[in-house]
Amino acid sequence: MSNHTGQDIQIGPYRLDGQVLLAPMAGISDVPFRNLCHDFGVSLSVTEMTTSDTALWTSAKSRHRLQLNEIKGIRAVQIAGSEPLQMADAARAATELGAQIIDINMGCPAKKVCRKLSGSALLRDEELVKKILVAVVAATDVPVTLKTRTGWDKNLKNGVRIAQLAESVGIQALAIHGRTRACAFRGKAEYDTIRAIKNAVKIPIIANGDIDSPESASEVIRYTGADGIMVGRAARGKPWLLQQISDQLKKNFYAPPPSIETRRDIIIGHLDAMYRFYGEYTGVRVARKHLGWYLQELGEANQFRKIVVRAESSCLQMQLIKEFFRHRLQGEEAVTAHSSPPGVSHQWRKQKEQENLPGNQTDRAKFN
Ligand SMILES: Cc1cc2nc3c(=O)[nH]c(=O)nc-3n(C[C@H](O)[C@H](O)[C@H](O)COP(=O)(O)O)c2cc1C
Repeated sequence: MSNHTGQDIQIGPYRLDGQVLLAPMAGISDVPFRNLCHDFGVSLSVTEMTTSDTALWTSAKSRHRLQLNEIKGIRAVQIAGSEPLQMADAARAATELGAQIIDINMGCPAKKVCRKLSGSALLRDEELVKKILVAVVAATDVPVTLKTRTGWDKNLKNGVRIAQLAESVGIQALAIHGRTRACAFRGKAEYDTIRAIKNAVKIPIIANGDIDSPESASEVIRYTGADGIMVGRAARGKPWLLQQISDQLKKNFYAPPPSIETRRDIIIGHLDAMYRFYGEYTGVRVARKHLGWYLQELGEANQFRKIVVRAESSCLQMQLIKEFFRHRLQGEEAVTAHSSPPGVSHQWRKQKEQENLPGNQTDRAKFN
């Protein structure tokens, strides 16, 4: 594969197979979603951000984030923190767990993260940025990458200086979200600063922010000269978009979105993966979010979603989805009973209640 700049993306010993990366999204880009996106042509994804305080790594959340043995492709771990020694410890510990790339998060505007001066709050203090980068690079043999924003705010757009600093201390690739920390997610991402960064350094640059179609991906690559792009929110509920973008960048054409049958199979596979990865209780809850996005894509944002989020067991959740698609595929008309919005047959729910199968009150009580 050759990209628009004529070179594959190389991060240390790893040559990426494609220019499309998945953006880390805490609470979303977990192992099941990352593996699914990998199947849709993503060449690299990192874990959701993991605290640099390794004492907290025994929590269920961190344990799931740091479960590296099930991940398809390169095992990259993102760490967030503000103390150089602690960040170095975290990098070392993640490497021992099997990380093949350590990614430093300096891009998160979340108040919780900023208050502790990690994430993009760090961008105000370039001396501290340097200390962290130097400490992390020294702590591990694996390549270290950095994810950041264009700067702290519109008066301190120091993205270029941060990028040069990063390159000078051995950071091997940079992902840049085209917003300042102050912008949070408001307004539109801008790509001028990403372009300036690309011109200022030699390490691979990954452009990120508001890329939501094969066309916008091509345009961002053309405009910024970036080596690759990173997609976050637009992949929720339609991971096949990543394949479309990848095909566009590789071959200059892409297939239409998958058929309803194929979507059903993708969603069922994703549900199964979540149940297996998290177990019954958490799996069902994590799945609700993803189902919401999938259904939104299918034009079923409100009605059927209200039913499916009430399912308390994987069995009922899965059955509801299968039933929903069966009706969709049969082109059946919406059921009139208001307790059974379109897509779920009233008779089917009644039958489940009679059979005392998951979905009735007994089942719900079990998990409450
Ligand atoms: C729900 C959510 C969680 C996020 N969590 C992380 C994170 O853990 N680490 C990180 O570096 N960025 C995180 N981000 C930022 C994304 O990686 C990305 O930079 C941002 O969403 C812009 O890309 P997009 O417009 O393609 O979504 C998060 C974004 C969202 C919406």
